[in-house]
Amino acid sequence: MIVKIVNKGHYTLWRLRRSHMNALRCVHALTILGNKNRYYMEKHIFEIKNLNIYYHDFQAVKNVSVAIPSYVITAIIGPSGCGKSSFLRSMNRMNDLIPNAKLTGEILFHGVNIYDPLISEVNLRRRVGMVFQKPNPFPFSIFANVAYGLKIQNIKDKAMIAERVEESLKRAFLWDEVKDRLKKPALELSGGQQQRLCIARALAVYPDTLLLDEPCSSLDPLATAKIEELLQKLKKEVNIIIVTHNLQQAKRISEYVGFFNSGELVDFGPTKEIFERSAQSMVGRYIQGIFG
Ligand SMILES: Nc1ncnc2c1ncn2[C@@H]1O[C@H](COP(=O)(O)OP(=O)(O)OP(=O)(O)O)[C@@H](O)[C@H]1O
Ligand SMILES: [Mg+2]
Repeated sequence: MIVKIVNKGHYTLWRLRRSHMNALRCVHALTILGNKNRYYMEKHIFEIKNLNIYYHDFQAVKNVSVAIPSYVITAIIGPSGCGKSSFLRSMNRMNDLIPNAKLTGEILFHGVNIYDPLISEVNLRRRVGMVFQKPNPFPFSIFANVAYGLKIQNIKDKAMIAERVEESLKRAFLWDEVKDRLKKPALELSGGQQQRLCIARALAVYPDTLLLDEPCSSLDPLATAKIEELLQKLKKEVNIIIVTHNLQQAKRISEYVGFFNSGELVDFGPTKEIFERSAQSMVGRYIQGIFG
């Protein structure tokens, strides 16, 4: 019976092999159905325990344990090369795609260990979307870019797809700028528009969480302001974890901040508190531009 309910959801994380699913796992799977039915509120989206990430013999992330709060913006800051992107990628298993990357420890997403062999990476990435530093629209039309995830899900209902594309572009604050040219190539859009298109593409499959790796670093201040406004609006519906080098941006938009240095999560807490750390502390020195 429970298996049937899970099967009906669009957002099942598990590879549905009935023989492998015990009752507890079914309950977990039910809690991670789409945001539209956000009847189940939890304090933390991710609980990370003793996370280590290696590339060959080099250890990029060192024994990180942290719980990431739900429905706020969490910013990850720290000097270049300190492991921010590696940490972010581990949360939707993008590191799996890097040869020689190895990970130990546990990452629980809504209580489910995402590295459990029964987890489907494809379904996980649908629930935990990612937006990269450089906008990466596919060489298709604007419409086809946003519809891409639905196509992958084998959704064929054209009216439903059109509705979802419009809804996602509106959620990404892009609809008014592109509604008359949906069939035009996405690559004709400006950088800022392309980045909002990538966000719309991620939103179209109703993710639970968005991971953003320096999404504004190639954008001008106006386009950056638009993305920041968009993230503030989205955080009511989607969990947001953002890596940024822009400390003012972290201060403006986030409720929580994690500070990495040399692979270690040195500090994590409410943004206001982190930004008030004294210049004696490592994060204080980084924020004041004394190192990094
Ligand atoms: N694919 C890889 N192969 C080998 N080493 C890697 C790989 N990716 C990252 N590293 C190394 O791991 C460390 C952490 O890299 P990571 O990209 O996570 O840092 P970062 O904090 O995101 O840096 P930046 O702010 O410059 O983007 C770096 O020393 C980097 O050289
Ligand atoms: Mg990085």
